[in-house]
Amino acid sequence: MTNQSQSAQAPIMDALLRYREAGRASFHVPGHKNGQLYRQEEIARLLQDVMSIDVTEISGMDDLHHPEDMILEAQKLAADCFGAEESFFLVGGSTAGNLALILTVCSQPGDILLVQRNVHKSVLHGLMLAGARAVFLEPYIDPISQLASAPVDSTIRSALAAYPEAKGVLITVPNYYGMGLDITAIAEICHEAGVPLLVDEAHGAHYGLHPQLPASALASGADGVVQSTHKMLSAMTMGAMLHIQGEWIDRELLRQRLAMLQSSSPSYPIMASLDLARRYVHIHREQAFREGMEAIRVFREGWAGLTRFRLLGPAEVNNTPPIPQLGEASKAEVQESESILDSNPGYSTQDPFKVVICDRYGVWSGYELQERLEQQGCIPEMSTERYVVLLFSLASVKEDAVRLLQALEYLEKESTILLSADVLCEGLHKDNHEVSTWNNLRALNYSQPVQFHLQPPKKDQVETVSLELCDGRVAAEMVIPYPPGIPLLYPGETIQADIVERLMKLQSTGAKCQGVADPSMRTIRVYRDRITSTDA
Ligand SMILES: Cc1ncc(COP(=O)(O)O)c(C=O)c1O
Repeated sequence: MTNQSQSAQAPIMDALLRYREAGRASFHVPGHKNGQLYRQEEIARLLQDVMSIDVTEISGMDDLHHPEDMILEAQKLAADCFGAEESFFLVGGSTAGNLALILTVCSQPGDILLVQRNVHKSVLHGLMLAGARAVFLEPYIDPISQLASAPVDSTIRSALAAYPEAKGVLITVPNYYGMGLDITAIAEICHEAGVPLLVDEAHGAHYGLHPQLPASALASGADGVVQSTHKMLSAMTMGAMLHIQGEWIDRELLRQRLAMLQSSSPSYPIMASLDLARRYVHIHREQAFREGMEAIRVFREGWAGLTRFRLLGPAEVNNTPPIPQLGEASKAEVQESESILDSNPGYSTQDPFKVVICDRYGVWSGYELQERLEQQGCIPEMSTERYVVLLFSLASVKEDAVRLLQALEYLEKESTILLSADVLCEGLHKDNHEVSTWNNLRALNYSQPVQFHLQPPKKDQVETVSLELCDGRVAAEMVIPYPPGIPLLYPGETIQADIVERLMKLQSTGAKCQGVADPSMRTIRVYRDRITSTDA
């Protein structure tokens, strides 16, 4: 445990400030020479301060790949703050952490990793790089929202029993929407089976730091945890951390994997921002979240007066007001929702900072609602077919909450004028399934092992077909609706009829997809013959 004066230190930032103040001549990279090149250029003014500390591994600046001095010290402070035995700074986001963890745990091609299907693309890329086999686990699907969270205990237990040779289990908690569950039992199940639990906690860097926030993955027993410090805490974009505890993960190999994956010239401003983000929560502890929590309180208080929108949350934290009387159908929906919410084991925690809303009547899609909010000056994190995700953080202030409430109140008033009750009733029954985190396993709890590899398909193995004709074909490209970056298809995956339907829906709503050759999404690349990724 560090004492207060130790946690108040920011070793990397301090060293960079000393470097800047010393005013020595630079005979080293980067070529901008501490921003000197731009001293006359108005256009670069904003970057100049950052450039003045944008150094490299010169004398006294330590080395991320062989830390002995200030970087080691900063990483030790981070481990203390977040409850790890060892922490590693990442300058390539959680992406780098997921890749490194998978390449460490699956060190031999063909190794099996148990992993939920609705993972970020970096996890599938890690499997490809490792030449690993994935046993996909079915995540829990919240019956109210249709959103997928993580696999429940029983799914993991049965998959581990079926594949005792598995090298580990990787889950994502919380998801992009802030949905999660208590993973303590999952960690125990993994350890009983003799494998590590890896958690992609990209969206939960703040977890465990305030009593109103869910417990962190480390505190719940996970062995390797990746956190995007730049997402829910205050590091600069790409700043993330990888935390390790226990003996389940080979740290020597992990270091080698990180050295392989991360730049040999890691950004010092990003590392310094990790140092500062840690320092802020380390010294202020739960007080660091005081203003952000107050903003959320104000928002929730004001929310109670809104009737048009619905707020995502599991039973015990959801303060959704009752649906206004629009006839028998809406009452039935409420009753159905309430009964399902009673048994909700796969979704029991919600990040209070993730405000996920939808149009209660399904008249506006998430995309349309986002557009309307943007017109009112509120820029959401992302939207999907049904939902808009708005993100508060420790840096949010009451005024932010008030602004969002005003925007929602305006939209509510506008919609009451524009839409008749009949239209609202109709909207309530629109098929508005969520697609972005869809899982493809359906009735099964876990899949057969799926071999991943890096070989791209040969040109003559692939053809382009229109979306309407791809049912039953095998995808030759990844289709990644972005955000949230969870591939709907990976190369080698058989395209089922409902996925075709979802692809067409994405296409018609103009959703952005990465990985596809045809950005208009009218066509998709498939294997000419019905071959799976194992044969490809
Ligand atoms: C669940 C999840 N994991 C990992 C990542 C990758 O994080 P980063 O952008 O820090 O590389 C993301 C990015 O959105 C994500 O949503």
